[in-house]
Amino acid sequence: MSIPVYLLAIESSCDDTSAAVSCDDKILANVTANQEVHMKYGGVVPELASRAHQQNIVPVVAEALERANVNKSMINGVAFTRGPGLLGSLLVGTSFAKSFALALNLPLIEVNHMQAHVLAHFIKNSNDQTFPQFPFLCLTVSGGHTQIVRINDYLDMEVIGETMDDAAGEAFDKSAKVMGLPYPGGPLIDQFAQQGDALRFKFPHPDMPALNYSFSGLKTSFMNFINKNVLADADFIAKNKNDICASLQKTIIDVLFNKLFKAAELTGIKHIAIAGGVSANSGLRKKLEEQVAEKGWTVFIPPFQYCTDNAGMIAIAGYYKFLQNNFVQQDVTPLARYSI
Ligand code: KG4
Ligand code: ZN
Repeated sequence: MSIPVYLLAIESSCDDTSAAVSCDDKILANVTANQEVHMKYGGVVPELASRAHQQNIVPVVAEALERANVNKSMINGVAFTRGPGLLGSLLVGTSFAKSFALALNLPLIEVNHMQAHVLAHFIKNSNDQTFPQFPFLCLTVSGGHTQIVRINDYLDMEVIGETMDDAAGEAFDKSAKVMGLPYPGGPLIDQFAQQGDALRFKFPHPDMPALNYSFSGLKTSFMNFINKNVLADADFIAKNKNDICASLQKTIIDVLFNKLFKAAELTGIKHIAIAGGVSANSGLRKKLEEQVAEKGWTVFIPPFQYCTDNAGMIAIAGYYKFLQNNFVQQDVTPLARYSI
C-alpha cells in the first residue's frame, strides 16, 4: 500500500481566503473566509481584497489544520493558486505558501485556478462515487470566466470555447447591481428566480461565432430594460422581482447551453460536467440533469462547497501534480493571467 499524501492547499485568487487539508484525493478540512467588505461596493475592490487576505490567511490555515486533526509535521507538500486572479490577492496566498514550504522544507505545487475548478470533480466524497471518464467536457462558469473545456486527462485540458467579454457570473452580478441587490448578486437572483415566471420577459441572445460567448450585450439590454420600466413605474423592480430574475436567469442558462450542446455535438463527447461559482445555480443544475434523459448525457455536478472558490479544489489539483513530482521553486511568482 502506498503512503498517504497530506497536502496543505491555499486559495486566494479573488475575494475568498481559503485553506484545505487533504489526504490523497479526500478533503479532510476546507475552511473559507468570505470578505463582506466588498458588499457595499457592488463588486470586489482589489486593494481591500488583498488586505483582507492578509488578515484572514493565518487563522484560516490554523483552523483547517485543526479541523483536519493534522499536525504541520504530517504535511507532505503545499499547493497554492498561482493564477489567474487579482495580483494583490494572489500575492498573499503565494507568499504564505512559499514561507510555509520554506520553513518546513516541503515541496511547493503551483495550481491553475481554472484547472482546479474542473478537477473539483475528482475530490472523493463517498465510496460509491462515479468520477468523469476522459475525455469529458466541462462548462466552467464563474465570476471571472466562462469556458467550455475539453479534458483529456487530469492535467491535460484545452479551452474550446470562451467568453469574448463578460463572464456569466458577471452577467448575474452586474444585473443584480442594476436591480439594487448587494454583491455577489448571483445567489440572490437564483433564489428569487425560483418563485418567478421565466417566460414573462424576453432578453436578446448574442450571436457569437464557433463555441464562444458574449454577455456584455445582455448586460446593456438588461440595464436599458430596467431603466425604461423604472421610469414608467418607480416600483417596477419591487413588483416584478421574481419574474425579472427568473427571465434573466433563463436567458443566461439558455445562452450557456446553446454552445454546450454545440460542443457536445462537434466533439461527440457525452460526458458533461459543470464547474465554477455559477454551477451552484439551481436552474443550471436542473437543466444539466434534464439532459440525461433528453440527450443521453452522463452528467457531473460538483457538491455546492466545491463550486465556488475553495481550497479543496486546489488540494485535489495539487495532489495530481504531486504524484507527477511537478513542483516549483521558491522564485515562483503569481500570474494575473494564466491560461489552462
Ligand atoms: O468561482 P467563483 O466563486 O469565483 C470566481 O472565480 O469568480 O464564482 C463566483 C461567481 C459570482 O459571480 C457569483 O454571483 C456566482 O459565482 N454564483 C452564482 C450562484 N452562486 C454563486 N450565480 C448564480 N447562481 C448561484 N446560485
Ligand atoms: Zn473561481
